[in-house]
Amino acid sequence: MNVIERVKLRYFRCHDEFDLDCRRPTTLIIGENGSGKTSILEAVYLALRGKSFKGVDKEILKRDESFYRAEIVLKDAQKIIIRFNGNKKEFEIDGKKSARLPKKNRYPVVLFEPDDIYLISSSPSRRRDYFDELFKQIDDNYGTYLSKYNKALRQRNDLLKNEIISRDDLFSWNIMCANYGTELIKWRVQNLGKINSKMTEVYRDIANNNDSCRIDYLGARVDENEYLNRLEMNFERDRIMGHTSFGVHRDDYEFVFNDKKADGSASRGENRSMILALKFIEAQILEKEVGKKPVVLLDDIFSELDEMRQKHLVDNFRNYQMIITSTTVPSEMRVDKEL
Ligand SMILES: Nc1ncnc2c1ncn2[C@@H]1O[C@H](COP(=O)(O)OP(=O)(O)OP(=O)(O)O)[C@@H](O)[C@H]1O
Ligand SMILES: [Mg+2]
Repeated sequence: MNVIERVKLRYFRCHDEFDLDCRRPTTLIIGENGSGKTSILEAVYLALRGKSFKGVDKEILKRDESFYRAEIVLKDAQKIIIRFNGNKKEFEIDGKKSARLPKKNRYPVVLFEPDDIYLISSSPSRRRDYFDELFKQIDDNYGTYLSKYNKALRQRNDLLKNEIISRDDLFSWNIMCANYGTELIKWRVQNLGKINSKMTEVYRDIANNNDSCRIDYLGARVDENEYLNRLEMNFERDRIMGHTSFGVHRDDYEFVFNDKKADGSASRGENRSMILALKFIEAQILEKEVGKKPVVLLDDIFSELDEMRQKHLVDNFRNYQMIITSTTVPSEMRVDKEL
């Protein structure tokens, strides 16, 4: 069941030299604020996904040092070494070097950070980023389309800032935005459908009542032609504003609780249970779609959850490898590393 067996770090954020044995199904890391707990999860995430969830390499590199190195030993003694020399990063997997983590070596991860608890009431861009990251994990092609879309959007926006722009100058960028944009909409709607088909059932299991919940996609569900029309219709407005007002980069996701918008109607506890349900569903979907059991990284969230929800969390992820960080020892758990 375990994916990761060992984590070794050198000059990785605050860590000079760090070594963690994580061959047990659950690894619990205890340490005070600022002791380097999140950094350990960041290294694991980097080895499994190819990039950090927090920052760039120059931020990760320990201050006043010239390189960082992270070595992650996976099951079957497969080794991923990540080196950064202040300029360039390389991944080495069983002796083979590459600038990026090859797709076939990517591994699904369910990351649970304290900020996620506030996803329901946070900004649309935070929610977009959240679901983008999830959908990228479900299907690599989503990420490819997303970066193509973002590139086309950037070019279009750059042109809009130019004063002598004409409608025709935008034509090819409009086509690209409409094409990639409608693809992204399809993926988003489809993936949300998968999440929603489980949402209420999983929620009820946590909350032990008959409430219902789902996540709605607040986006323009238009076909490619209509997408193109909208871009063209908004030309004057976009030109004045200097950016593109219509498109999937503006879409949002709304949590709905008992048929009402959850933000403003659901209680704190209900919100937390919905997020918990979402995390459980993420693990199920990733396992099914990617065909690999995700590694579950729980970063300091025990203090955010009451005992009942903590128990659900541990019970639910019992069949997954978990790496947990906390400032205090949760009841009835054994500590694997103290920082
Ligand atoms: N590049 C770096 N070089 C040196 N120290 C760094 C670097 N980047 C971050 N730090 C420091 O490393 C420490 C560990 O950060 P980290 O987020 O891993 O701690 P943490 O144990 O998760 O803390 P908290 O409990 O507050 O979440 C922090 O004090 C941070 O300021
Ligand atoms: Mg932390």
